Amino acid sequence: MSTGAPAGPATAWAVQPSGPLRGDVRVSGSKNAITKHMVAAVMGSSTSTIANVPDVGDVGITTDVLRSLGVGVELDGDRITIVPADEIDAEVAQRYSGLNRIPILLLGPLLHLRQEAFVPLVGGDRIGARPVDFHVEALRSFGAEVVETEDGVRAKVAGRLKGTQITLPYPSVGATETVLLTAALAAGRTVLNNAATEPEIIELALFLQRMGARVELSPGRRFVVDGVERLHGASTRLEGDRLEAFSYLVAGLVTGGQVRVGGCSQERMVTAISTLQRMGAEVEIDDDWISAHPGQGLSAIAIHTDTHPGFMTDWQSPLFVLMTQAEGMSVLHETVFEDRIRYPATVVAAMGGEIELFTTCLGGPACRFHDSNAVHSAVVRGVSKLRGAHVEIPDLRAGFSGVIAAAVAEGSSVIEGVHHLERGYNRPLDTLQSLGLDVRRTDPQPAPPAR
Ligand code: EPU
Repeated sequence: MSTGAPAGPATAWAVQPSGPLRGDVRVSGSKNAITKHMVAAVMGSSTSTIANVPDVGDVGITTDVLRSLGVGVELDGDRITIVPADEIDAEVAQRYSGLNRIPILLLGPLLHLRQEAFVPLVGGDRIGARPVDFHVEALRSFGAEVVETEDGVRAKVAGRLKGTQITLPYPSVGATETVLLTAALAAGRTVLNNAATEPEIIELALFLQRMGARVELSPGRRFVVDGVERLHGASTRLEGDRLEAFSYLVAGLVTGGQVRVGGCSQERMVTAISTLQRMGAEVEIDDDWISAHPGQGLSAIAIHTDTHPGFMTDWQSPLFVLMTQAEGMSVLHETVFEDRIRYPATVVAAMGGEIELFTTCLGGPACRFHDSNAVHSAVVRGVSKLRGAHVEIPDLRAGFSGVIAAAVAEGSSVIEGVHHLERGYNRPLDTLQSLGLDVRRTDPQPAPPAR
């Protein structure tokens, strides 16, 4: 298995529109589940095995981080084996700063294993401020002494971390994971209120339960965890990635084709499916596959992103492109990350998408960015005629928007910065080619002079 890194130095793709995209895509496990499972496995007293692992760059980054701490990580096909270290290193090296968001999740496990920890500043897509204050406050509540330094976060604890009561200010995915990972081995009971309950989090909780943790999911976004003395290794197979599944359904729809996605359950996709249906797509579902085609044509929609089970923020970027190809004015209100909407909007607008951005909360209830100056709503006019362009993609999800916009544009496009895409999508070049898109690697090229 490769680690998802591009072959050779090229980080650009050349895309020629090639008509409707059609075919089957079987999605693998999600990047946002595998990396967290890898962190959990570090706490086991024996080996863990995880199957259906996606071939994405983030797995490679997380593998490197864990190996640098002395953890054994073996990749074999779509299976990963984690052998916990006899004595794990307590510090994640500076060279892993800014690559992804996983190091912050290691603080709790490292505190359990070493009573001290340092992780460098975390990265991930630039889609908002993305502070780590909820993580830091949660760890303090478990009894750790935590200091945020210029280059990272340092923590220590005298003795064992203690179970606690935490209410998150917002149901953050990462902070919920920090609490679950930390509570599993803490002394006594932890109650977490206002937790995130995204499917990838439930998957992590189930994996921890397999490792011997005592985790209870109560109604009303509440986890109760009774800490245990030790966790053992466990085996699991990851569920399919709902972000990838939606991205490929949209790739089919936007080009007037039909893509069938397998390996991702209907339950995970319920809001994505109902949204596509509201736009006029005809969706067929059976136990193995979900497919969508444009039916009699797509029409505009107003939607806001939300925590699960709402319309997830990561689905927003491909939806942008679909909105440009739907009849009428669509409205999109991003309520999770204050800065996320600008990236796909910029890419799609560079290709001729008619998009207007607003700081106000449009098309739904006011969100927590209401009183800020954050650009977090958009009006998209459809049908916009997209034209090929030379664009630099700024992040993972906006990157996919650029590619599917190029697939439906008039003329050829060059998409720079595809390493972002390869960090999170499983072999995206091969998959898009298998659907009939004329896309190939090319050398990075100088952008044409601005007009
Ligand atoms: N937040 C804080 N303080 C914190 C933590 C979060 O203010 O300490 C805020 C964030 O700034 C944001 C909101 O809470 O406004 C939600 O952030 P969350 O913590 O839920 O996001 P995350 O854990 O950083 C994960 C995924 C994202 C996905 C979001 C929302 C990973 C590695 N990343 O991010 O995925 O969009 O949850 O579901 O799991 C992607 O895959 O491309 C991606 C960005």
